[in-house]
Amino acid sequence: MKKITIAIDGFSSCGKSTMAKDLAKEIGYIYIDSGAMYRAVTLYALENGLFEGNEPNADRLEKEMPHIHITFRINPATGRPDTYLNGVNVENRIRNMEVSAHVSPIAALPFVRQALVAQQQEMGREKGIVMDGRDIGTTVFPDAELKIFVTASPEIRAQRRYDELKNKGQEADYENILENVKQRDYIDQHREVSPLRRADDALLLDNSHLSIAQQKEWLLQAYYRICEKA
Ligand code: DC
Repeated sequence: MKKITIAIDGFSSCGKSTMAKDLAKEIGYIYIDSGAMYRAVTLYALENGLFEGNEPNADRLEKEMPHIHITFRINPATGRPDTYLNGVNVENRIRNMEVSAHVSPIAALPFVRQALVAQQQEMGREKGIVMDGRDIGTTVFPDAELKIFVTASPEIRAQRRYDELKNKGQEADYENILENVKQRDYIDQHREVSPLRRADDALLLDNSHLSIAQQKEWLLQAYYRICEKA
C-alpha cells in the first residue's frame, strides 16, 4: 500500500500521543512526538541555566542550539520511541511539571521552531510517518494526506495528565494541572509563530467521551478511507 503522511494536531493532554503511537504501530509507520522535541530543548535550557525566572534567555539559547541534538530510539521494553537529548534518555524527565511549566515560551521562539520544523520535515521525507503536535498539518506537513485535529474538554485533559503522572509515581495536583492546561491552551492559540489552529482540511476528533478502543477504530477508518483514494 502507498505510504502517506499523517498529521495529528490538537490541544495538550488530549491523548494525541497515545493515539498517534498506537496508529503508527498498527500500520507499521514511524511515530514522532514533536512536543517531546520542544520539551527536550526546554529541559536543556533548564539544566544549563538558560532561564532567567520564567523566561528563557533567547540570545544564549540561540547560540546553544547547534549543540542540542534530539533523537528517538525504540525502547525494546515498551516498543515505543524514547526521546534522547545529546545521547541521554530523557523520556521521563521531559514529562515532569517543571518542564511542562516552562515549555511554552521555548516553543514560541522563532529560531527554536525553525530548527525543529526542519528536523521534523527531514524525518518525514520518505512518508510512512505519524507525527503529532500543534502545527504539523499547518506548517510541518501542509500536504499531509491525512490531517486530524483532536480536542477534549480542559477538565478531562487535566484528569488524564493527573492519572498519567500518578501512575508513574510522580507528584501531581489536579488544580495545578488544570491551570497549566488552560494556560498552555491560551499560549498555544495566541502565540505569534505557528499558533495552534485546525488546518482547513483536517478532520475534527473530539474524544472527551470516546474510549481508547473507539478512538482507535475511528482513526483506522479515517486512514483506510484515505488509502483507498491515494
Ligand atoms: O504536546 P506536548 O504537551 O508534549 O507539547 C509540549 C509543548 O510544546 C506545548 O506547550 C506546545 C509545544 N508544541 C508546539 O509548539 N509545537 C508542536 N508541534 C508540538 C508541541
